[in-house]
Amino acid sequence: MDLRDRTVVLTGATEGIGRATAVRLAGRVGHLVLHGLEPRAEVLGFLAGLGGDVTYLSADFGHLDQIAGLAESIRGTADRVDLLVNNAGRPGARRRADSADGIEATLQTNYLSTVVLTTALRDRLGRVLNIASATHLSARLRLADLGLAAGGYSAVGAYAQSKLAIVTYTCWLAGRLDGRTAEAASMHPGVIRSRLLAGMFSIEGDPPEHGADNIVRVATRGGSINGRYFDETEPARPNPTAEDAATQRELMNRTATLLAPIGIDPTAR
Ligand SMILES: NC(=O)c1ccc[n+]([C@@H]2O[C@H](COP(=O)([O-])OP(=O)(O)OC[C@H]3O[C@@H](n4cnc5c(N)ncnc54)[C@H](OP(=O)(O)O)[C@@H]3O)[C@@H](O)[C@H]2O)c1
Repeated sequence: MDLRDRTVVLTGATEGIGRATAVRLAGRVGHLVLHGLEPRAEVLGFLAGLGGDVTYLSADFGHLDQIAGLAESIRGTADRVDLLVNNAGRPGARRRADSADGIEATLQTNYLSTVVLTTALRDRLGRVLNIASATHLSARLRLADLGLAAGGYSAVGAYAQSKLAIVTYTCWLAGRLDGRTAEAASMHPGVIRSRLLAGMFSIEGDPPEHGADNIVRVATRGGSINGRYFDETEPARPNPTAEDAATQRELMNRTATLLAPIGIDPTAR
């Protein structure tokens, strides 16, 4: 996929893998729309140094209405989103915590944000690439207790479940898209040195540029990638849970309930 003259939206573009991806994309994309948590002075300096047509929008994914507001702002700046990279993410919080919306914070930032943004832009989307994690492979979806309120909470467990939810959502979404004009895929970007990695694991990781290169390669891959999961740049099998139709339906019903207060229904046709 040639990104010249295309509009690309990248969330979580202010740090780590997203920031390195923004650097890779700047100047080779028609219109680059970057998202960050807040317009810190350092972020504005970084953005000023990027070439090409760049728009910056901020939103805290810990607030559902801000995610919906971000979608509205994107709609105001782009008639079509040829590529949406849902990259923003956070490590699991050490202690279970709720967002401003009363939803477990990791689930909201890492999973619901992607559903809200993707749903609110669905009539304008081309390719959607959701940044998941290989941690999803060993996770379990607690469908009756997605917020992990009933006990057994751990930071890594909450993070891995949020990523399994993303991969499951992506598989479900792919089943509703035609795979030609619109498609959805998910990927593990690699084990990458970043604030997020250091927040959960005592391992080194590759530089952010490695994750960025993986994202750009998958994002620009020729042919349809609808419904696929990539381990770095290679197609791989996701957790079988993600491909189970009954699990997908149940997850989406519960997701619709969580998002009802902001009027977003991902299951609506
Ligand atoms: N690093 C790895 O080894 C690894 C492995 C597998 C998957 N991933 C995934 O790759 C993606 C990028 O991770 P990373 O390692 O690059 O992490 P990072 O360096 O911590 O960057 C995370 C990005 O997400 C944004 N973000 C965090 N919380 C947010 C919130 N509440 N609202 C809006 N934006 C928020 C951050 O904005 P601020 O800078 O303003 O906080 C930042 O731009 C994540 O989805 C992560 O789960 C990473």
